[in-house]
Amino acid sequence: MRPERTFRDTPAAYGRATRALHAVTAALVLWQFSIVALYKIFGESPGLNAVASFGPHGYVGLVIPAFALARILWALGNAGRRPALRPGVAGALAGAAHKTMYALMLIVPTLAVARVWAKGEGWTIGGVEIFAVTGTTVPFVVALADALHGPLSWVLLAIVGGHAAAALAHSLVWRDDLAGRMFGTPAASGR
Ligand code: HEM
Ligand code: HEM
Repeated sequence: MRPERTFRDTPAAYGRATRALHAVTAALVLWQFSIVALYKIFGESPGLNAVASFGPHGYVGLVIPAFALARILWALGNAGRRPALRPGVAGALAGAAHKTMYALMLIVPTLAVARVWAKGEGWTIGGVEIFAVTGTTVPFVVALADALHGPLSWVLLAIVGGHAAAALAHSLVWRDDLAGRMFGTPAASGR
């Protein structure tokens, strides 16, 4: 008999809420990198600017940590009932990758926001003042964010790539049901 799909996680599979949060975050993260990559490959153009305006970098970059926080809280709330990591090195690597992705989804945008604050030029979103214009810069914070925001983003992309490749390999090469814990119907074995 197939295990029921549930809202909350079970040891057999992630529930609907985790799956939805995972899918939305993945879409936002991939959007962010796709737009940056398109600008790097093709340069600025009115067409690309129009596409990018559907999800501006700074705004999408703020929504990602909000979803990451929601996921962390949801993961903590489901602790003890989620699918377990596989034993051995592969499971440990997967667990480390998950934690690092969560950390980078918080650190990367925090650096960017700190840079906006440290430049002292002010920041207003939709008429709401986030930072007032101070006219004072904090060079250390600006330099730190300049040095780390881009490189840490690329580290995040590399881990996401490895993570997605591992999920695909489980399905296509090893043909086990690991990906079924996040997508589709979990196997009856509940592994
Ligand atoms: C783009 C294609 C992606 C695929 C195919 C994919 C696939 C999967 C699969 C199969 C699992 C379950 C792993 C297990 O049960 O051990 C999983 C879990 C997870 N994925 Fe992804 N993923 C993708 C993108 C992302 C992205 C962009 C992020 C974050 C930046 C992410 C973060 C996570 C995390 C943190 C978990 C652990 C479960 C949780 O805490 O929600 N994934 N993913
Ligand atoms: C998880 C969220 C975010 C991701 C994944 C991300 C990713 C990136 C990437 C890949 C680059 C290009 C780096 C390069 O050229 O090598 C970049 C640049 C940039 N991002 Fe973000 N970003 C995020 C959030 C934000 C936020 C919230 C802001 C604004 C408050 C922001 C502002 C900038 C700026 C101004 C640049 C150009 C300067 C630089 O490279 O540091 N980003 N971002």
